[in-house]
Amino acid sequence: PPLDEILNLHDFEAIARQTMPEKAWAYYSSAADDEITTRENHAAYHRIWFRPRILVDVTKVDSSTKILGYKSSMPVYITATALGKLGHPDGELNLTRAAAKHGVIQMIPTLASCSFDELVDAARPGQVQFLQLYVNKDRSITKRLVQHAEKRGIRGLFITVDAPQLGRREKDMRMKFEAEDPSEVSKAGSRGVDRSQGAARAISACRSFIDPGLNWKDLEWFKSITKMPLILKGVQRWEDALKAYDLGLAGVVLSNHGGRQLDFARSGVEVLVEVTEYLKRQRGLTFPNENFQLFVDGGVRRATDVIKAIALGATAVGIGRPFLYAFSSYGSEGVERALQILHDEFEMNMRLLGARSVADLAPDMVDASNIHSH
Ligand code: FNR
Repeated sequence: PPLDEILNLHDFEAIARQTMPEKAWAYYSSAADDEITTRENHAAYHRIWFRPRILVDVTKVDSSTKILGYKSSMPVYITATALGKLGHPDGELNLTRAAAKHGVIQMIPTLASCSFDELVDAARPGQVQFLQLYVNKDRSITKRLVQHAEKRGIRGLFITVDAPQLGRREKDMRMKFEAEDPSEVSKAGSRGVDRSQGAARAISACRSFIDPGLNWKDLEWFKSITKMPLILKGVQRWEDALKAYDLGLAGVVLSNHGGRQLDFARSGVEVLVEVTEYLKRQRGLTFPNENFQLFVDGGVRRATDVIKAIALGATAVGIGRPFLYAFSSYGSEGVERALQILHDEFEMNMRLLGARSVADLAPDMVDASNIHSH
């Protein structure tokens, strides 16, 4: 169907499922084990309800905000998803271009199919990009990538901490990917993963280079090699968020990797409730907090989902699969359309809630009593 008949982010998924190559669909949509966490990621938002304010002058509403100090047209960023070329020959470039048009931030994945430099070169002057990092067993490779990224103007380093081993994604396994030569992919992350290599290569790339030994002690080393703000991506309990805060990191992403890692991990928005509660109790922090920012991803499909997470204290939310599905069918225009839909939904729902700015989205705007803190 033509793009203007796409009404919401779910539509992109339905179309992609019918039109995408089977292997690409398997890789993008797959999740761990019985995929319970993936389902729950979106469902968790259904347990949160609104408490709108009436009779607020909402003639003008402002959806813009700041993420790690950088302006964003709304509290949404494009999160890192590997292997963009499986779905479209331009791969992650589709995301870079659409992000520029809509003034949102893109997180470049270590396992992008385009090379890192290609994605940075494609950015407009002033366009902000973050980097997602898989930490290599060979720290000299990681150090080189991090320092190169900093030199190229990357504004935030998101270290993925929920993937010491890749989750079991049976949709992928059923595609009977062949065994791959790990030497081919050991360089992955510095030069991109070619489309022809496919999902199996990425999987073996992860197996061969991601360091399962990564631990808290490594964070001092990261602080010593870069001045970029450090954020842990994949935090799932308040105790770990507290450790990250005490180490002086810039924030955490409350995420279960889109349900692709540990099945039965809770949804990010659910974890958000306990993190804000305990960090207030233990360190007197209130959220959103400029010095320690909370991000949430997983299952965000509507602006109402975004608003709920922001009201509960997140600085911004990440969205993954919908943009993959959008560019697989429509290239960068699909991603633009997805961002436009989100933006329109966001402004409308702000009006209906009686919120004029992102700062107005406070905990009193939602009833999250169905979500229990730990
Ligand atoms: C991911 N995600 C991910 N995360 C990461 O840190 N490094 C990576 O390489 C990838 N790759 C990746 C590939 C694909 C196909 C998907 C769907 C996801 C996880 C991603 O950053 C994010 O946590 C989830 O995608 C958020 O969930 P939704 O929005 O896809 O539901």
